[in-house]
Amino acid sequence: MTTDRDVTGREGAEAYTLRVNGREVRVAARPSRSLLDVLHDDLGLGEVRYGCGEGVCGTCTVLVDGEAVSACLMFVAQAEGHEITTLSGLASLAGDAAATEVHARGRALHPLQQSFLRNGALQCGFCTPGMILAAHALVERVGQPTREEVAYELVGNLCRCTGYAKIFDAVAEYAGAAADGTRARHVEPVSDHGSVAS
Ligand code: FES
Ligand code: FES
Repeated sequence: MTTDRDVTGREGAEAYTLRVNGREVRVAARPSRSLLDVLHDDLGLGEVRYGCGEGVCGTCTVLVDGEAVSACLMFVAQAEGHEITTLSGLASLAGDAAATEVHARGRALHPLQQSFLRNGALQCGFCTPGMILAAHALVERVGQPTREEVAYELVGNLCRCTGYAKIFDAVAEYAGAAADGTRARHVEPVSDHGSVAS
């Protein structure tokens, strides 16, 4: 359906229904508008950030049906019918009702985020959300990735401020716990002084 204007005031917008972080949202956007712009600018999901706009840096990484995708390279029209997850929605994928309940209050950490915290792997808010989402997709896909596989997966999540060692440790701890069944199925509430790296 064509509407008059999108949030940028330009004519030629169309209405799209997206599923983002478990919820259905309606947006008006020109078909050529990127998913990144819609998530960040229209829906206020600040953890999805513009870095290069060319699919190189990883700051705009989101999960599309569980796979890590550069949102700057995806048109909003291509996102309809798919499940979009950003870092602030990751906790809802942890898998139990309590997790969803905590997440609904917007204050929860997925076990992978907890592992990043424990291992001192958190970098800045530009690079960390994408790293966590890319690592999540990898572990879901292969189970227990080798260090080399993690490095390969994160090659598109750039940070010149880290040697990545603690990040690899965090992913290995999370994947190992998942493999031996000790991964927490609940989501930790964040204290008032906690960080969610988003
Ligand atoms: S902004 Fe999308 S990969 Fe850099
Ligand atoms: S780019 Fe985020 S800490 Fe280096």
